[in-house]
Amino acid sequence: MTRSVDVKRCVRCGRCVTSCPMGILKCKEGPAAFTSDAEDLCIYCGHCIAACPEDAVCIAELPAEMFPTLHGAAANIGQLQELFDGRRSIREFEERPVEREKIERILTAVATTPVACGGNPPPVTVINGRERVAKLIPPMMEFYRKFSKGMTSPLFRPLFRLMMGKHMFKAMSEFMPMVTRMVEYYDATGNDCMTWGAPSLLLFHTPPGSVGATFDPVICCTYAMIAAHAQGLGTTMIGMAPPFINKNPCVKKELGIPAGNNVLISLIVGYPTLRYSRGIRRTVAANWVE
Ligand SMILES: Cc1cc2nc3c(=O)[nH]c(=O)nc-3n(C[C@H](O)[C@H](O)[C@H](O)COP(=O)(O)O)c2cc1C
Ligand code: SF4
Ligand code: SF4
Repeated sequence: MTRSVDVKRCVRCGRCVTSCPMGILKCKEGPAAFTSDAEDLCIYCGHCIAACPEDAVCIAELPAEMFPTLHGAAANIGQLQELFDGRRSIREFEERPVEREKIERILTAVATTPVACGGNPPPVTVINGRERVAKLIPPMMEFYRKFSKGMTSPLFRPLFRLMMGKHMFKAMSEFMPMVTRMVEYYDATGNDCMTWGAPSLLLFHTPPGSVGATFDPVICCTYAMIAAHAQGLGTTMIGMAPPFINKNPCVKKELGIPAGNNVLISLIVGYPTLRYSRGIRRTVAANWVE
């Protein structure tokens, strides 16, 4: 049996029943129990286990060590806002590497993200060490050199438009002068304006056909960014690395990323050289309907 309720422990409080988004636990005249369709409907969100004050709920796929005790010592909204205010996209890094333990703490934060259909968050590839990250820069610049040429060529432009669709093509056309400048800057100076000299690069990807494919990795990356910042590290989300990696089966293979997986977003991580004195609060176009 993969799931059960320990009837000796159950105090019939009904919390597991209330917390289950799929309604597959019942607790009417006796201890809580799973209904017969539990196997088919469970999304493995773990709410029933986390809600139970008696540790009475057991699902084999969700072992007890996945559920840390909550101590009620979470940051309050003021502390959290201070953390958000202090985060900036960092593009200047010290040469020192990031300790493995700090990246593991980042991954622990990622392990708490909401996932579209429940279950584990999508995979992360950790490229650790500047030498390893730097290996990606020349082929990445070559990729963008070709891309920039293609997008500005009268012969290939219509083809790109067809492949990308009208809206993406328009967005990319507006973005192109910046890409061209980055390539020219790299050619002239050899400076890395893709991963900005960072010692670590995290790639967030998803297997083909997963329901949350277009957003789960971005949520994970956002958590990673905040968890890094909370440890004194600096980060920047890098949207330019994924297209290059996705279009290069050899690079994917070298990095151990399954061929079918799609890298959606990446994050550079390192120790920032700059400390900021002020944050920035932009405008959120909130439309209140009450
Ligand atoms: C999805 C996404 C992709 C991004 N890609 C890049 C990138 O490829 N290179 C880069 O230097 N910055 C990149 N950025 C960083 C943004 O430029 C940066 O967040 C923005 O300028 C605001 O600065 P702040 O993060 O310091 O508030 C990206 C940010 C996001 C959210
Ligand atoms: S893991 Fe989630 S969906 Fe499955 S039984 Fe528990 S609460 Fe319900
Ligand atoms: S939350 Fe735990 S104690 Fe309460 S009804 Fe469910 S199994 Fe029983």
